[in-house]
Amino acid sequence: MAAWTALRGESIKGLKARNWLKASESRTSKAMISALDFLSYLPRFLRERIVPNMPIPEVKNDPSKVQLIRLGHVYFEHPDLNKFAQFAKDFGFVEEKKDGNETIYFRGYGKDPYVYVATKSKTGKPRFLGPAFVARDQAEFDKAAKLPGASVRSMDRAPGGGQQVTITRPNGTFFHVVYGQTERKIDANTGAEPTATHDSQGPFNTPFEKRRLGQFQRYHEGPALVHKVGHFGYVCKECDEELEFYTSNFNFVHSDILWHPQFSNIDVLTFMHLDLGKEWSDHHIFFMQRAPPEVEETYIHHSSYEVADFDTQLIGHEWLAKKKWKPVWGVGRHILGSQIFDYWLDSSGFKIEHYADGDVVNEDTETRREVAGPISVWGPELPKDFGTDMTKLSFQ
Ligand SMILES: [Fe+2]
Repeated sequence: MAAWTALRGESIKGLKARNWLKASESRTSKAMISALDFLSYLPRFLRERIVPNMPIPEVKNDPSKVQLIRLGHVYFEHPDLNKFAQFAKDFGFVEEKKDGNETIYFRGYGKDPYVYVATKSKTGKPRFLGPAFVARDQAEFDKAAKLPGASVRSMDRAPGGGQQVTITRPNGTFFHVVYGQTERKIDANTGAEPTATHDSQGPFNTPFEKRRLGQFQRYHEGPALVHKVGHFGYVCKECDEELEFYTSNFNFVHSDILWHPQFSNIDVLTFMHLDLGKEWSDHHIFFMQRAPPEVEETYIHHSSYEVADFDTQLIGHEWLAKKKWKPVWGVGRHILGSQIFDYWLDSSGFKIEHYADGDVVNEDTETRREVAGPISVWGPELPKDFGTDMTKLSFQ
């Protein structure tokens, strides 16, 4: 995911002509939106004086905050667990453990014992139950356990064991911190990732440099095997309060902050990374979009999972299409974060992304601020409903 405007599902062509406050023609905020819509026609200096400032302040990490090192897994509830299990297999997850008929743990081929926990929904509705980040060490985990509203539980039943802190936010979302899991053993020395599609792949030959000599690129159809969960993000009603909570208690730092095209005094989206000092960290692991006025409650926009390379992406895309799952947007290349992306709808209507070749940053990378704009450098036209919570359409 790359920019706030994309979350709204507008075409690149339409970006210049439209704005956030003009987005909705429905529901409760119609009058308000009409008023703000009117304001957008005023000269910039005037409209930005009338509309209150909504800044996203810069943050710095410090040792008093809980230090997290990566996103380990995510929790989702699905009305039809078997149907999701079929999707998961086609998407490239591997089933690690089934706990009765209620819970399935899916893994990637990275160090995490699992990356996605799917549970049968008791309410019959899909629900996101939060991300689980891995604490740097026991001391950081203990710090998280002392945060207001935190509760600690054992993860004995889960593959790899460990302990988990859960924090319930006032807006009904959840945030988890884990520590003590037994990690999977990864043999990174083989030089090639596990694959379900690649028979033989050498380096790319370029016009000026032929590095693959007498060796052939050979592939077959199959799913795009997932390495890890890379990022997720909310369209958030309580954006300022939630950002304050996350950035004051954890080592989340802004990579890119975007402001509204018509109101430069309204910051609308941030892509955050984990500050790991000199160590390199994914450009975004968590993004937060200020919800447009017509959005009634905070929802997850999408979660995203890393795959090996471009060929994996494209073959995985064909595989999901062949299995009749619903494509959302892709394959394309994002601007902020640079990922090659491919978005799909899972069996419950959650948007879920394969990505490859993302940027990494470290403490020397400065936070950038810019206007929200086009979000892909190439790829299909952005679908109009990209910002919509599709789980609401089928499971009201
Ligand atoms: Fe994304």
